[in-house]
Amino acid sequence: MTQISSDISKAIELLNKEEVVAIPTETVYGLAGNIYSEKAIRKIFEVKQRPLFNPLIVHIPSIDQLEKVAREFPIKAQRLAEAFWPGSLTLILPKRLNIPEIVTGGKDTVGVRIPNHPVTLSLLKQLSFPLAAPSANPFNRISPTSSDHVKAYFENTLPMVLEGGECKNGIESTIIGFENNEVILYRLGAISIEDIEKIIGKIQIRNTSETTPNAPGMLAKHYAPRTKMYLLDDVDEFIENNESKRIGVLRFQGKLKTTRFEHIEILSKSGDLKEAASKLYSTLHKLDSLNLDIIVAERFPDVGLGKSINDRLERAIK
Ligand code: TXA
Ligand code: MG
Repeated sequence: MTQISSDISKAIELLNKEEVVAIPTETVYGLAGNIYSEKAIRKIFEVKQRPLFNPLIVHIPSIDQLEKVAREFPIKAQRLAEAFWPGSLTLILPKRLNIPEIVTGGKDTVGVRIPNHPVTLSLLKQLSFPLAAPSANPFNRISPTSSDHVKAYFENTLPMVLEGGECKNGIESTIIGFENNEVILYRLGAISIEDIEKIIGKIQIRNTSETTPNAPGMLAKHYAPRTKMYLLDDVDEFIENNESKRIGVLRFQGKLKTTRFEHIEILSKSGDLKEAASKLYSTLHKLDSLNLDIIVAERFPDVGLGKSINDRLERAIK
């Protein structure tokens, strides 16, 4: 039985015993283990059915712990950390060699962030090691934004989910790396490109697909519901042409012209992309549970967090 509990000391006990515990963050829930325990890290990969070449993000409680995991901290990385940590930004930095290979997929770099969640910050502060944690979903499934999502995925394979409520941002961290003095975005996420560029100027976007050598986790197919899904610019016409199907609609704001759908989810009545991003995965989880024939999502405005939302929707239809 997987226990959902707010008992941080129970989580500490399990993590000290090289167990894997699901933890809340402000982005999504993670499957956490001691970075120095090969046993715990192996279990993370096993439970998640994740290929071993795909590295994990390391979570630390404060900036003074960074030197434990990274051997360089470029000036632009420092400015980003100052602006966004604790928060939804993962920095790819040259790693310390004592971090086991299995954590970093054999790479010379480590992905690291300080999450912005009171429960997990308190947990990290009480541990003597950082936590490696990928999103707490099986490979290729929608990331979890509540403890119930995690429990549904891993019932009986995890001892505990540390309760932390609904994830505030609801979409994974933005991943930024540094190559030859260039700043490169490897994954769109909870912090927009615009907000990053306000701090350090123009960056390169390389948020592509499985061919990307530096973020092997950016597989084209990802974040997918089980229900057949489409992403369209205009869903009205599609619905009119598919009358016989039970259709669920996912949309940013406002009403459709047609009413021939079974179910509709509007992510932000007031047109706030941050609110929409925070509800994206929980809404996909819900739509996926309704036994619909089809989910149709309408493309979001291509600015700010709308870009991150469109990115996840594109991966969900692959
Ligand atoms: O918001 C988040 O980042 C969540 C929470 C739990 O912190 N974690 C998360 O982890 O999304 P995961 O494993 O689902 O995605 C991590 C991504 C993968 O695409 C992986 O390839 C990339 O980060 N990554 C990790 N370390 C890397 C490295 N050294 N170089 C390049 N990419 C790296
Ligand atoms: Mg993930």
